[in-house]
Amino acid sequence: MNHHRTIIEPFKIKTVEPLAMLSRADREVHLERAGYNLFSLPSEVVTFDFLTDSGTTAMSAAQWAAMLVADESYAGSRSFARLEAVVRQLTGCTHVIPTHQGRAAERLLCLALAKPGMKIPSNNHFDTTRANIEFVGAEAVDLVISEGRDPRSRHPFKGNIDLPKLDAFLTENKQSIPFGMITITNNTGGGQPVSLENIREVAKLYKRHGIIFIIDCCRFAENAYFIKLREPGQSNRSVRDIAQEIFSLSDGCYMSAKKDALVNIGGFIALRSTEWVEKLRALLILTEGFPTYGGLAARDLEAMAVGLEEVLDERYLEYRLAVTRYMAEGFNKLGIPTVQPPGGHAVYIDAKEFLPHIPTHQFPGQSLVCELYSAEGIRACEIGSVMFGSFTSNGDFRPSAMELVRLAFPRRVYTQSHFDYILEGMEEVVANKAKLKGLKLVYDPPFLRHFTAKFQPL
Ligand code: F0G
Repeated sequence: MNHHRTIIEPFKIKTVEPLAMLSRADREVHLERAGYNLFSLPSEVVTFDFLTDSGTTAMSAAQWAAMLVADESYAGSRSFARLEAVVRQLTGCTHVIPTHQGRAAERLLCLALAKPGMKIPSNNHFDTTRANIEFVGAEAVDLVISEGRDPRSRHPFKGNIDLPKLDAFLTENKQSIPFGMITITNNTGGGQPVSLENIREVAKLYKRHGIIFIIDCCRFAENAYFIKLREPGQSNRSVRDIAQEIFSLSDGCYMSAKKDALVNIGGFIALRSTEWVEKLRALLILTEGFPTYGGLAARDLEAMAVGLEEVLDERYLEYRLAVTRYMAEGFNKLGIPTVQPPGGHAVYIDAKEFLPHIPTHQFPGQSLVCELYSAEGIRACEIGSVMFGSFTSNGDFRPSAMELVRLAFPRRVYTQSHFDYILEGMEEVVANKAKLKGLKLVYDPPFLRHFTAKFQPL
């Protein structure tokens, strides 16, 4: 038996990059120059970059080695055959269509299959999924269980779909549903997992109503490990076995490989039946590339093939989920409230509760994001009224339902001592929180405000 309490990084480090170490005063200059929007910061002035877990993975020596032996042939690349074999083995799907990232897969599926007026249900659609569905005039419908919308609920599978709601929705709309979905883990809902039982029931419902079932599987391994940890009767199965069962319940999936395929770029669609394949491949050739590279270099296909195997290493997954759990518990001990329970890839701080003196129209989440940068060199992402708030026609502000700050952790990049260092520094952020002020929006772009808006401190 393992008698250690510490879950260590199950890797040693061969290539390193220096960390930017700036003074608070220097950071404040950069923050002002960036208009108090962290998307405008050059990454060299960021110490801990938690903007996203997407495409920010440290690759392994085995992945870099595979990249060197890649076959860069335009057609019939050996590297594609390797990726195809790995995806087939994992998903049980015969047809593998490579894409340059997740949203390219979404675009192909929506262009090929969805039409104006159609509806696509899921637990929660991710932003790019929703945008691609709406771009073709269809509607993205979120049917997550009510616990999934409650940041305090400690339900172990807050990503689950509400089954009675899904059944009623399918009964009413089945003529206008091109395919049904589920996202594992549920990123929009806080990186929360979906239970195997829920996926089985969802699959049954889609089947009963004659609807094709597609999984957005970009964090499938994290989801499968949560099932092993939390779902009764699953603890003795391997994560690979659980993942294979999940995929076996669907008609196909698509993946942003920038997450659980442990690469910096890549994606794919995998399908069981031939029905849509020709149409998708025709569109693929139009916008992505030939069917054996799909907008990627063959070396990227090689890295994905290796990453999809590495991610199923349970020591890696144990470490991976320990990171979010450790950080959420550390924050909570300091009195920083987070969405419960911690999800797989990120910790979400409840800024409205943490900074109750800052009203929502003065953006408490953005204020916290700026302080995390000034104090600790952390780059996090506001998911609150900067992202989702709006103004009514008479200029009144309509806030977002929640004011969250997401710290998404890159895979295999930061170590335990980095996280301890951050938690030490957070003591001061907590001690001084009453002094934090809100912000005024001084440039409000017409679309996707959070990327380019500019602020002034009040
Ligand atoms: N689906 C989910 C659940 C995602 O989280 C993402 C990306 C995508 C699809 C789109 O994939 O970026 O490769 O085009 N999520 C990133 C994030 C951007 O930061 O959460 P992509």
